[in-house]
Amino acid sequence: MCGIVGYIGTQTATDILLGGLEKLEYRGYDSAGIATILDGKIHRLRASGKLYNLREKLAHSVNPSQIGIAHTRWATHGKPEEHNAHPHVDTAARVAVVQNGIIENYLDLKEELITQGCQFESETDTEVIPHLIASYLPCAPKGDDFLKAVQTTITRLKGAFALAIICAEYSDEIIVVRNQAPLIIGLGQGEFFCASDVTAIAPHTCAVLSLENGEMARLTPLGVEVYDFELNRLRKQPRTLEWSAVNLEKQGFRHFMLKEIHEQPAVIRACLERYLSPPDSASPIQLPIDSQLYQGVQQIQIIACGTSWHAGLVGKYLLEQLAGIPTAVQYASEYRYAPSPLTPHTLTIGVTQSGETADTLAALEMEKYRRINLASPYQARTLGITNRPESTLTQMVDQIINTQAGIEIGVAATKSFTAQLMGFYFLALQLAFERQTLSLEQIQSIIAGMRALPHQIEEIIAKQSAPIEQLAHEFSQTKDFIFIGRGINFPIALEGALKLKEISYIHAEGYPAGEMKHGPIALLDEKVPVIAIAMPGIVYDKVISNAQEAKARYARLIGVTPKDNLEAEATFDDLLYVPQVEELLSPILAVIPLQLLAYYIAALQGLDVDQPRNLAKSVTVE
Ligand code: AGP
Repeated sequence: MCGIVGYIGTQTATDILLGGLEKLEYRGYDSAGIATILDGKIHRLRASGKLYNLREKLAHSVNPSQIGIAHTRWATHGKPEEHNAHPHVDTAARVAVVQNGIIENYLDLKEELITQGCQFESETDTEVIPHLIASYLPCAPKGDDFLKAVQTTITRLKGAFALAIICAEYSDEIIVVRNQAPLIIGLGQGEFFCASDVTAIAPHTCAVLSLENGEMARLTPLGVEVYDFELNRLRKQPRTLEWSAVNLEKQGFRHFMLKEIHEQPAVIRACLERYLSPPDSASPIQLPIDSQLYQGVQQIQIIACGTSWHAGLVGKYLLEQLAGIPTAVQYASEYRYAPSPLTPHTLTIGVTQSGETADTLAALEMEKYRRINLASPYQARTLGITNRPESTLTQMVDQIINTQAGIEIGVAATKSFTAQLMGFYFLALQLAFERQTLSLEQIQSIIAGMRALPHQIEEIIAKQSAPIEQLAHEFSQTKDFIFIGRGINFPIALEGALKLKEISYIHAEGYPAGEMKHGPIALLDEKVPVIAIAMPGIVYDKVISNAQEAKARYARLIGVTPKDNLEAEATFDDLLYVPQVEELLSPILAVIPLQLLAYYIAALQGLDVDQPRNLAKSVTVE
């Protein structure tokens, strides 16, 4: 949540910063702002709403400054109005700050600063920071005074935050700080960048330095100095980004979400290539994780939020049914305040697309912490499943499965979800192989089905996009939807409902089909469409019966089901076809028409599909 970016070098800073904000806008888009230094003074321009408002304001000014910081906001403290937009400055406008995170003790600090005569202009938590820094700066600062003032300020702050700071008297320095919120530094030729995410840096350089929590850095035109919070100098090795700037473009698609739906076959192919062993290998799966991580594991707990939590539910089904390991799935935001009793031989899996979700990271941290001094059976074993191997998650867990989905820009998760599912299929199969809960023939048969998935998804996209778009027209006035599924497809009902509500703002509920009659069926009438995921398998007949129960209450029935299925043709009013597939693999196909339906309903209404209201791609606050 919130994106910060900074630039120092030889080019016009505002151009670079605006480009960076554009790439970071997925992190929040309530307001945007820029601060530069010109003729020894801070120049600040801010606008509420999306980035184009700031662009418009900037179009009327010429600013050749070669140093600056910028911010795109997801409002936490204070309404999304211009006076709350970052950068924030102190009373004399000597210091400008952009922040991603939350300063928990800001009210106490604000009271203290007001008694010292500081004037506040916003309701944000961030504004205390420039005032504090300015209070520690001498009248005529020199040498390391700016760096030291920032360091003293950090000792006063409680919370999780990443900062970029400039000072009018230091026209060739940006100070950046990382404390439980992401921050990356980009190393160019005589120019340096900082940003919340590599997306803002990738168009300029592939060489990056990742700061860790508890580290700060000084960026000058001559280079980057990294320090810990006691100002001890640290040596860090740069690494090379795998991202290419081209991944960050829409490449002819109207929205990133549509592009990312279309990328799913390629992502699954990449997973298959990476994680299936060559023929005649000892094991059919080659996940790059050390077997010590899972050997002797007696239970698994999966911790995640949102769509990643839905992937975790499918993961639970697979780990229990294929590998025979009892598995619990926890909402990270709940788990961190009410963890399960400690159990021995437990593997904890954090699932997160961004690798930066604050609740997921905090829950994992807590899980590690509470096991630190325990006997070996109780010690933490942690695995991450993510498409962002460069994220904070990777630093926190023992090992990761990189789901190969690459960067996802649309706020609504699509390809990252199917890739997380693939991660769980590989993990469950590897465990099933090692624990011999499935025979090699059974595993090979599932793998054969997995190999067919990319082509089957291509078929759905090619043949179903037009009919689904057509169908979407009929729901422009619909207020409520119900999604039902059972067994391995119950999480897909939840995911279909989440996709629809987050981008189209239509109320939607996902429900286990068999539970409808225990209450929610009371909601049904001819105005509430019911989407049933009816994939042949052990619960198929049950789902059809549950759909009939909805039909008897006059609900319009839409079925996600394979073709040439007489029972389904007779039951449903509308059909979203998917190819024939083993029930075990059906979630990966069943979710595709639901993603497309949500997309077309929102796009036809002209809604902002990639940046829906009130949301952000990376939820880095609690
Ligand atoms: C998905 O469409 C949502 N935008 C959201 O629920 C998301 O899955 C959730 O915030 C978790 O994010 P993460 O995977 O990056 O941890």
